[in-house]
Amino acid sequence: MRDAAAVSRRRFLQSVGVSGGAGALFATMGALGLAPAHATAPDFQAPRPSDFHLTGRGAKKVVVLGGGIAGLATAYELGKAGYDCTILEARGVTGGRNFTVRRGTTQTDLDGHTQRAGYSPGVYLNAGPARIAQWMVTLDYCRELGVPIQPFVNANADALIHNEANGAPVRYRTAKADIYGYVSELLAKATDQGALDTRLTPGDKARLLSFLEGFGSIGPAHTYTGGSRRGFTSYPGAGNDEGTPLPGPPGLSDVLASNVGRYFSFEFGYDQAMMMFQPVGGMDRIPAALTEAIGRHRVHLGSEVLTVSNRAHDVTVTYRRGGRTRSITADFCIAALPPHLMARIPHNLGADVTAALGSFPATASGKIGLEYRSRWWETDLRIYGGITETDLDLAHVWYPSHDFHARRGLIVGYYNTGAAARTYGALTPAERTARAVAQGVKIHGEKYRSELTTAFSVAWHRTPYLEGAWTSPPWGSAAYNRLLEPSGRVYFAGDWLSHEVAWQHGAFVSARSVVTALHQRVLS
Ligand code: FAD
Ligand code: PHE
Repeated sequence: MRDAAAVSRRRFLQSVGVSGGAGALFATMGALGLAPAHATAPDFQAPRPSDFHLTGRGAKKVVVLGGGIAGLATAYELGKAGYDCTILEARGVTGGRNFTVRRGTTQTDLDGHTQRAGYSPGVYLNAGPARIAQWMVTLDYCRELGVPIQPFVNANADALIHNEANGAPVRYRTAKADIYGYVSELLAKATDQGALDTRLTPGDKARLLSFLEGFGSIGPAHTYTGGSRRGFTSYPGAGNDEGTPLPGPPGLSDVLASNVGRYFSFEFGYDQAMMMFQPVGGMDRIPAALTEAIGRHRVHLGSEVLTVSNRAHDVTVTYRRGGRTRSITADFCIAALPPHLMARIPHNLGADVTAALGSFPATASGKIGLEYRSRWWETDLRIYGGITETDLDLAHVWYPSHDFHARRGLIVGYYNTGAAARTYGALTPAERTARAVAQGVKIHGEKYRSELTTAFSVAWHRTPYLEGAWTSPPWGSAAYNRLLEPSGRVYFAGDWLSHEVAWQHGAFVSARSVVTALHQRVLS
């Protein structure tokens, strides 16, 4: 049946191509899911001042709780139509989890550890968000706000894979050549031996084998024997210098036992595939630009929300700023705080709202930024950006995607989650550095210690006013759906109310959805 369907689909496409030309063929393929769809963000129309013409209504006063991406985007979009927005942000800076650490950044965690970044000028750590996929609406905001972007290297054949039991790390290119090679050999031999005859026509078999010969570099004998793809100890040179290929490959069993293939699927993710981007100069260029566009006078930093009272015709929020308790009354409120923290704030929105907010668990995650006095990973290892994957408690080690060939640079020495993040988070900053460096020396050798100048680490679950990296929303539950609706005059926004949690895209689209709902209500 499958074959018949495939043949008839091909014939159908051929007939469309003949009668309608390439344009019609492409459109038809799109409808069948074969051609690239035109990727767009969900529809959004920003409120405009002209929306109020002829309605006899006007822009309202809105208090926004939290100056993370969702809160900022809400005020920015409502501000386009003249809404009078005030943002209450507890931290000393906007951005929330979008937090870039650079020279002078100071932070005290929930355990009382204070760090002050001693990074060199131009060196920074994107402690939270660091990469943006091309389809994400985050890039549209970069364009609109004039935030320049540059490539972020999320996959690099020259980066390493370090599984502790294997001893030495291996380059990605070598690991891929071996896994793809042996998997191709196995599948090709199974095909040759007729093991797949119930699934494949003779034509399918020929095309599959041709694919595998190239994909795995297995030659007409369908046996993987390595080759230049694995890399060289000395790359090809002048005249008769063919280079010295890496010794190997190891046997099939050894390659499978090395377990290097477990990292490959990461870059297949629709959210992690190259090309990816980052703002030039640090991810916090985005909240900084939003804050400017909104107007700094509308953003009250150091303002911790204490209570929220919804009434028939307005909302009152009390907050503490500079040691004094103050209050603000507005027509509407948008609560763009982390759900587990909003759950603790006294309000009169109902016990069901508190319970719903409490059903979003907070995840632990941490990053450390290690500044080095030389870019030895570029000069010695020829690694320009990308990620080394490990089964150490460091999880991921990142090389910088910017300022190549500069004198200094910063490596993300760990980016971990779960138990590993909690282990590091429980240490003092100095202990975290010592542990991360001791682990990193296993991959990179003593330079990892001797070239280090300074470090700064963030444990998100131990960071005031955030207390978590992201959440796993109870999508589809009554609790989740409850918070998509306003509670009287109070709306909720954040990446946690989207299907792109742990991405700024989710915070932006959640903000847009609340802006649309609120504006429609004001107009109606
Ligand atoms: P938040 O940023 O959490 O904002 C909530 C705000 O509320 C904060 O500013 C907080 O200070 C404030 N607040 C809390 N309590 C109070 C109170 N009582 N009174 C007043 N204010 C209060 N996204 C990407 O796009 N790319 C990435 O590569 C990426 N990587 C990430 C890596 C890590 C380690 C982390 C932690 C996040 C990452 N993200 C990434 C996700 C991204 O950071 C979030 O999706 C986004 O920033 C969430 O924005 P938000 O406004 O919803 O929430
Ligand atoms: N968005 C975050 C990051 O890219 C968290 C995340 C990791 C999300 C892996 C999906 C997959 O680092």
